[in-house]
Amino acid sequence: MNRKLSSILVTGGAGFIGVNFIRHLFERAGFDGRIVNLDAVTYAGNPASLADLSAGYKRHYDFVRGDICDRGTVEKVFEDYQIDTLVHFAAESHVDRSILGPEAFVRTNVMGTFTLLDVARMKWKGRDDVLFHHISTDEVFGSLGETGYFHEATPYDPRSPYSASKASSDHLVRAYHHTYGLPITLSNCSNNYGPYQFPEKLIPLMIQNMLEGKALPVYGDGRNIRDWLYVEDHASAIWTILGRAESGSSYNVGGENEWENLRLLEKLMEVVAAKSGKSLDAIRGSITYVKDRPGHDRRYAINCDAIKRDLGWRQALTFDEGLERTVDWYLSNQAWVDSIRSGEYQKWIDMNYAAR
Ligand code: NAD
Ligand code: DAU
Repeated sequence: MNRKLSSILVTGGAGFIGVNFIRHLFERAGFDGRIVNLDAVTYAGNPASLADLSAGYKRHYDFVRGDICDRGTVEKVFEDYQIDTLVHFAAESHVDRSILGPEAFVRTNVMGTFTLLDVARMKWKGRDDVLFHHISTDEVFGSLGETGYFHEATPYDPRSPYSASKASSDHLVRAYHHTYGLPITLSNCSNNYGPYQFPEKLIPLMIQNMLEGKALPVYGDGRNIRDWLYVEDHASAIWTILGRAESGSSYNVGGENEWENLRLLEKLMEVVAAKSGKSLDAIRGSITYVKDRPGHDRRYAINCDAIKRDLGWRQALTFDEGLERTVDWYLSNQAWVDSIRSGEYQKWIDMNYAAR
């Protein structure tokens, strides 16, 4: 392999996984090239999450506020920074929002991915020392019964507007490789958790509600199953793929860590109670069963043997360690939570959650 990996365009690098990925490259992976973070700063993006990068890293880092659907902006970033690697996180990412308003998902996830691919095709014509890495999700594979796992070859069966838009973007990425020879890799990952996650997703929402003495809304019977991966382990998987994977390859990434929502909640309640001094009984009493998510996928579970076997990647943290770190982070970073919740999020929650 002959990849340069010296000028990396990270899209959506102000969101949850993007922030953790950029930190991983600078703070743990020893990356010493340039990172350009292109992010539109939607309700879910907070460029301040990287404000405390040390001065040494900041010399290698630029933030550009811009929309991945805007071809002119993307072209200019490619030209200004001589981009040789693109790591594409930018997306609308929350299933519940996709049910309430699918249009933004089609726009960003489908048209945005198309725009990036098409600019990369034009700017990188004939080059094989470049790479477009697309971040996708296990949700494209649909829903599992009580047994079985998603493999790389599992047929696509997306069932929410979010997963349908991500499946569509995956197909475009593979089509650009097959048709135009664009060097690509792709990863489909399970549920991430950890620092900097916007508090609308299960784990940070529940931590916040426990700390604030609010109801803990469990959808349906609470028996849906997800496979949880600490976000730094996802970042290390992506870095491994960038360095070692063959162009055209796809890898599943997962925690091998399945939890029913209710069991996960019980574990989380214990950690939060122990660390915050709140009463475990009071927290337990806040569990509230609410109307189920329409079309709620029952079970996701990833088989990630291929990335382990081919590229030598491993998860580094146990679930206990990851949850402890996550709760510690939210306890120490309530100002971050206040700042990210005070913008568009608040208006959206007022409009949509009151009706639930
Ligand atoms: P997130 O919602 O926290 O962050 C998304 C980021 O994209 C935000 O910073 C937002 O401002 C930016 N963005 C949105 N629309 C944009 C646009 N049009 N132009 C430029 N920037 C835009 O999402 P996340 O949880 O960090 O997920 C990142 C990626 O990983 C997504 O592609 C998602 O589908 C995928 N993924 C997420 C998980 C998970 O558990 N969170 C698991 C597997 C895959
Ligand atoms: O599987 C990967 C996907 O994981 C990513 O592609 C998505 O971007 C990410 O948002 C996540 O999707 P989920 O829908 O699985 O995550 P969420 O945190 O929204 O929900 C996890 C489970 O918890 C799911 O079964 C729904 C349930 N849930 C969620 C919320 C927010 C509740 O019971 N109550 C809640 O309030």
